Amino acid sequence: MDSKTMIDLCKKHTMYSWAKGNAVNPLPVARAEGIHFWTPDGKRFIDFNSQLMSVNAGHGHPKIKAAMKKQIDEMLFVFPGTATEPRAKLGAKLAEIAPGDINHFFFTLSGAESNENAIRAARIFTGRQKILSRYRSYHGATNLCMQLTGDPRRWYNEPGTPGIVRVMDPWPYDYSFGKTEEEITANNLQYLEEMIMYEGPQTIAAMIIETITGTNGILPPPAGYLVGLRALLDKYDILLICDEVMAGFGRTGKWFACEHGPIVPDLLCMAKGLTSSYAPLGAVGMRTKIAKHFQENVFWGGLTYNSHCLGLATALANIEVYEEEGLVENAARLQSVMTEEMQRLKDKHKTVKSFRNIGLFGMIDLQKDSEGTPMAGYNSTSECMGVLGDRFRELGLFTFVRWGSFMANPPLTITEAELREAFAIVDEALEVTHAYFEGE
Ligand SMILES: Cc1ncc(COP(=O)(O)O)c(C=O)c1O
Repeated sequence: MDSKTMIDLCKKHTMYSWAKGNAVNPLPVARAEGIHFWTPDGKRFIDFNSQLMSVNAGHGHPKIKAAMKKQIDEMLFVFPGTATEPRAKLGAKLAEIAPGDINHFFFTLSGAESNENAIRAARIFTGRQKILSRYRSYHGATNLCMQLTGDPRRWYNEPGTPGIVRVMDPWPYDYSFGKTEEEITANNLQYLEEMIMYEGPQTIAAMIIETITGTNGILPPPAGYLVGLRALLDKYDILLICDEVMAGFGRTGKWFACEHGPIVPDLLCMAKGLTSSYAPLGAVGMRTKIAKHFQENVFWGGLTYNSHCLGLATALANIEVYEEEGLVENAARLQSVMTEEMQRLKDKHKTVKSFRNIGLFGMIDLQKDSEGTPMAGYNSTSECMGVLGDRFRELGLFTFVRWGSFMANPPLTITEAELREAFAIVDEALEVTHAYFEGE
């Protein structure tokens, strides 16, 4: 099918998420391999966002595709009350790679469903109802997950399910705080303890965090935050749920981002990189104390597609690829290359305000003056950011431009040479932002 027919039919008969149908300008995609994908007209793109920060093993990996084909031939669906080989193997494999005593898993189909079921487990386990979440977060688009979400996508989904209390993030939105990371952590945890006191600790089942904030800024927490948060929640028997739907599976240079703390959450939510998005699958990992509870008490939840054989076989082959090709190690190794490239861009372009990355999880923020005024404000865009997005597209680089920032999240299979090639394109594209700089 040619690009125009593809775009016209998709727009005519299908609905695009988070967008006005008439305003979307979908990129037509015909095939994908490794860190690249191609339009039907043969234009090549570097996938600098792993689609939705999720195709960690790169596109079209032959080993994963072969495992999927094999599973299709053997068996596809049996009901969730059965035992199957891919279920047996994936549970054991995840127990091996998940931190601490997270040895038991509930399978879902998505990140949102993982978070939904983690909250369900926390509420049943503790007998408490309230959940704490943070403002600079995204946890999924179901009713409950929209309320857990702090970012503006929540506004249009309110009012939603009750019982969610949102708290401030450790990082202030404006970085000009002039304090040490340790002080920022201490201030935030002191404020959080006060909130817990006002809310009544005995009413709070859990707090959910993105271990490393994703779409809302790619923000590794300040020094000591994860360990301090873990201790604070333990003090009040409040469970900690780490949403690692985006940050998990090697993205940050470790299997799971909580290992950077290091901490072991009570519930660990995953999806995306679990199958590199080759098939829909999510999972909730739980510590022994919670798993034991549900060995003796009913887990009041289920899904028709819980433990679907295709997703499980895909995840198993995907994890084998991570291990055989050292993808987690590659993300850790290329962290310094990404930082170096980002620093080079900052030194060269006056519009680059700040940047950060952990592993291959990165973001660059743009400014419109030397005071650091963002090129686009909170929840808005600007002509400059639109022009930059168009320029990326023209130059064959796919990434997400959000508000006054843009992302750098390539597949974990990327080589150093390919990473530098992608940054050379970013460098060229940034030239168009200079015209929007106000001042010298
Ligand atoms: C941190 C985080 N949690 C949850 C979700 C929701 O996952 P899904 O879209 O698979 O429901 C996302 C999706 O981007 C995410 O980034």
